Amino acid sequence: MDGLDFAGKVAVVTGGGQGLGRSHALALAARGARVVVNDLGGTADGAGSDTSVAQRVADEIRAAGGEAIGDTHSVLDGARIIENAIDSFGRVDIVINNAGILRDVAYHNLTGEQWRLVLDVHLNGTHAVTRAAWPHMRAQGYGRIVMTVSAAGIYGNFGQANYSAAKLGMLGLANTLAVEGGAKGIRVNSIAPVAASRLTETVMPAKLLEGLKPELITPLVLCLAHESCPANGALYEAGAGWYARVRWERSIGWSSPPEDGVTPEALAAAWDRIEDFTGAIHPKSVVESLAEVGRQAGVDLTLSPQ
Ligand code: NAI
Repeated sequence: MDGLDFAGKVAVVTGGGQGLGRSHALALAARGARVVVNDLGGTADGAGSDTSVAQRVADEIRAAGGEAIGDTHSVLDGARIIENAIDSFGRVDIVINNAGILRDVAYHNLTGEQWRLVLDVHLNGTHAVTRAAWPHMRAQGYGRIVMTVSAAGIYGNFGQANYSAAKLGMLGLANTLAVEGGAKGIRVNSIAPVAASRLTETVMPAKLLEGLKPELITPLVLCLAHESCPANGALYEAGAGWYARVRWERSIGWSSPPEDGVTPEALAAAWDRIEDFTGAIHPKSVVESLAEVGRQAGVDLTLSPQ
């Protein structure tokens, strides 16, 4: 494969001042993209701000001969970030939604503020940035969007109810934007990374952290951000040089004629069949998902994607 070149492209990397975002921003710029390095520069739990965090990475890019500006808005001010990209570079081709904070706490102790703050930065912030970039991407018939989600959302993780809900909210957003943007040349994919950063350094053993370089996540982001991006609406897990795709799996299931009705006892008796993944299928769309229900109801739903 030829080198993945980003000449002529403008990328916005949120939370680009450190950790994964910094690595993505440096790599995109090194390969020719003009980069908006966005970072509010707060603490890991989202308190405060520091304008030097984004600026330092933008300076580093420029010192290496690349083009970049620092942007210190919160992702909740997504429109201002995209405005900055348009004012400085005239377009926006790539959005890497990466900014993030943690407020981990067991669900029974979770406060309204902890819930709102985490939902705000991850989900509402991602929406604010993406929604502002969307009309530009539609108008130019081109866009690449990457959502940074998490295994905590995919599988659940103790103490991360707010974070898990936000991250799978981002995945749902990505899935629908992939459907809506496909015909306009926009591809939207998600990654669930594992990397050493200030978010993980206190919860993972030092030996493991040594192998979890953020630079090992960046190649996946670059593949998904490139013109040749092979995917749309996909989810990948990655870490320590390992990359894999994740998809939904559905059992063949059990059914009863709808006109007969179904008792909970009949359902309980069929439980093993409902749980049996032998010959499982992997629906890729709502149409594929509804096909079985349609068959059961005697209606061909393949013609009506609503
Ligand atoms: P990090 O803390 O090094 O980087 C996150 C950056 O986002 C920080 O520079 C922070 O200042 C910035 N940020 C926070 N709130 C912001 C806001 N409102 N507006 C703009 N910028 C803001 O952490 P890391 O690990 O590099 O995280 C990057 C992303 O990857 C996050 O979304 C995180 O949830 C996700 N992630 C990371 C994992 C890991 O193993 N490091 C695992 C799964 C997901």
